Amino acid sequence: MDKPLLIGPFSQLLPMTNLPVKGSLKDVDLLIIENGGILVSEGKIKEIGVYEDLKSQDVDVHHIEGQYVCLPGFVDSHTHICFGGSRARDYALRNAGASYLEIAKAGGGIWDTVTQTRKASQEQLEVGIMDRSKIHLQNGTTTIEVKSGYGLSVDEELKMLRAIKNANTKTSADLVATCLAAHMKPKDWNGDVAYLDEIIAKLFPAIKAENLSQRVDAFIEESAFTQNEIESYFGKAQEMGFDITVHADQFTTGGSEVAIKFGAISADHLEASTEREVQLLAKSNVIATALPGASLGLGCAYTPARKILDAGGALAIASDHNPGSAPMGDLLTQASILGTFEKLSNTEVLAGITFRAAAALNLSDRGTLESGNLADFVVFPTDNYQEITYHQGGLKPTMVFKNGIYVCE
Ligand code: NIG
Ligand code: FE
Repeated sequence: MDKPLLIGPFSQLLPMTNLPVKGSLKDVDLLIIENGGILVSEGKIKEIGVYEDLKSQDVDVHHIEGQYVCLPGFVDSHTHICFGGSRARDYALRNAGASYLEIAKAGGGIWDTVTQTRKASQEQLEVGIMDRSKIHLQNGTTTIEVKSGYGLSVDEELKMLRAIKNANTKTSADLVATCLAAHMKPKDWNGDVAYLDEIIAKLFPAIKAENLSQRVDAFIEESAFTQNEIESYFGKAQEMGFDITVHADQFTTGGSEVAIKFGAISADHLEASTEREVQLLAKSNVIATALPGASLGLGCAYTPARKILDAGGALAIASDHNPGSAPMGDLLTQASILGTFEKLSNTEVLAGITFRAAAALNLSDRGTLESGNLADFVVFPTDNYQEITYHQGGLKPTMVFKNGIYVCE
């Protein structure tokens, strides 16, 4: 067996350990190891500690010259980076005054991307995912959730999920697939919710048979599905062993209650959540996920992140990278900006894109730097971690390690 590899020293190593998944966090509680190092063996973290101490063991050394801050690889727990085409036209129309829902009703919106995604081959979709995940990885995101939801038929959803599975074998990032066949009522079903029965009967078994995803998502909203329609859908999904996540309370409330009722892993969006939903979410174990990229893309309110944390809730932050509401896709930029508007501590922002985001994917082997976890970490060219959010995404990582390997795709 190879000797463990010691990587470092880092001026500051932030393991993000010993912090709760729920509730507010203060920067004084952030553990900072000065002149830290990471001992890696077989893709996992063997030990973290002071570099010079670890160096006294029988190890190989990857010495890093200079001033750097190292923290866990970022986890983006909500994206739609599998799609065809562009919605630049929607963006221009919105900025000229039309609303997201008005554009959707007029034939733009999600359906436009469905049309363009259906035209793309599985291979073309794979290339799109690879191109986008490469940028995410370079920006420090080592785990990326990717939703289907622009196919909206059994075959087209399968095409998307297969593209995600294949892309996962080719990119260094880990892609976590989610079935979002309930993204909107497909126009070719004329609003008939029997569509969901077909998904349950044909798509869910195929997903299981090909091991394409463990997760089912639904968009509960006026322009998509009602609470009632989704409750029976989620019931079936849970019977088949899928984890549940919800697009909830984006424009109107209702989705977060369904998320809580079904013990969903996460409820995402929540821009419209009122004090009532905030309190209910905080009492539950559902991870509330803010998607500031969608607020920036649509020009609407941010998720009440401060209120959720103060009420004792768990807050993850994800990019929602998609061609419609969130085309930017830069997680660190968006999380930093959310921190500015919602008055979040650095620890709350960084927790939101590391271990709390891992919890939003039900993953316990990443998001913190500790023994036994994946050796996924990101290295920034500074000696002070505060510089990272301060630059609002302008400070880019110098190095990204996935499973202990330096990746430069
Ligand atoms: O999370 N809100 C619903 N779904 C996506 C947007 C998808 C789209 O506009 O293409 C979201 O914002
Ligand atoms: Fe989304």
